[in-house]
Amino acid sequence: MTLLYIHIPFCDSKCHYCSFNSYVDKFELKSAYMEALKLQLQADLGRFEIGPGDILSVFIGGGTPSTIDPALYEPIFKELWPYLQKGAEITTEANPNSATSSWLCGMKALGVNRISFGVQSFFDDKLKLLGRAHRAKDAIDAVENAKNAGFERISVDLIYATSLDTPKRVEAEIAMAHKLPITHLSAYELIIEEGTPFEKSPNVKKESIEQSRRVIQSAKDAGLEQYEISNFGDPCRHNVGYWEYRPYLGIGSGAVGRIEKERHYPHGILEEYIENPHFKKIETLTDEEILEEKIFLGLRSDVGVDEKILPAQMLQRAYLLAKEGKLRTREGGFYNPDYLLSDEIALFMLG
Ligand SMILES: C[S@@+](CC[C@H](N)C(=O)[O-])C[C@H]1O[C@@H](n2cnc3c(N)ncnc32)[C@H](O)[C@@H]1O
Ligand code: SF4
Repeated sequence: MTLLYIHIPFCDSKCHYCSFNSYVDKFELKSAYMEALKLQLQADLGRFEIGPGDILSVFIGGGTPSTIDPALYEPIFKELWPYLQKGAEITTEANPNSATSSWLCGMKALGVNRISFGVQSFFDDKLKLLGRAHRAKDAIDAVENAKNAGFERISVDLIYATSLDTPKRVEAEIAMAHKLPITHLSAYELIIEEGTPFEKSPNVKKESIEQSRRVIQSAKDAGLEQYEISNFGDPCRHNVGYWEYRPYLGIGSGAVGRIEKERHYPHGILEEYIENPHFKKIETLTDEEILEEKIFLGLRSDVGVDEKILPAQMLQRAYLLAKEGKLRTREGGFYNPDYLLSDEIALFMLG
């Protein structure tokens, strides 16, 4: 069973915080890029011996998938269908300004069954601070349009820990999300990334553990249970698959894949990717790196850590943490009751 990630490297504009691989020009390359995606997909399905029904979930991310017309996705979906498990989760990210009703209906007709909107905030001043291309009203309309288009599983992304976030406003944002017909919420603490406009104005970030706890509590009060440090509600099976350390194919110029111990990186430059979609730089992970990743991912989410993967000394430290109430034990695994402490706990466990 494998997961499939498809990367769309186009955005209508660049947000002030974002360092994701995406272009706000080169739109004339969209068709050629989508054709290259299909070629890479065909080759990788063969290369990794993916059989009928082997793909558990698909996630189309970006960049901005809603900058691409559904008709351009069609050949990829045609290629994909035989390989999808029955009932596979197929998510696409979408931006409120470009996910029109007709785009949503087009993606639904192709088989997409989950939408994740980059809302970031329901306050226009904060949207402006973040450099977003939409207003709060556009986000509300987009979620409602998705519901009307027949999507049952809708998620919104919010960003918090900006200089405009007060306790009241954080609670209000989550309450506003909850009023919409959503089944899932991602709330990310702002990260100041290198090379972004925010790098030059780091004061836009105002973090505190109290604020993070407020976000978690507000989501819980809205009936959206936390299942990962930034994720709440009906779990995204695709992301849970990553945390369970399932193999994944990564299709696209900004995509990464991992099969067994090998991590694959296609060409990151758009033109080079289109020229040669079959190229992969391969990084081989060591057993120690894999163990470390499994521990970090497992403790940030309710996936937990299977005790069978832990060498004796780490197992000892895990039991010590359990004795102190910092980890819970269940069915041969260790589970983290407080995801905000996950990195500290993981580091202690690793020794
Ligand atoms: C692949 S990105 C963008 C998807 C889509 N283009 C959008 O903007 O909605 C997925 C999410 O990551 C989050 N994100 C991106 N950069 C971030 C940063 N520097 N700090 C916190 N969250 C970030 C945003 O919430 C965003 O919606
Ligand atoms: S947050 Fe989304 S829309 Fe904004 S630049 Fe990043 S990928 Fe593009």
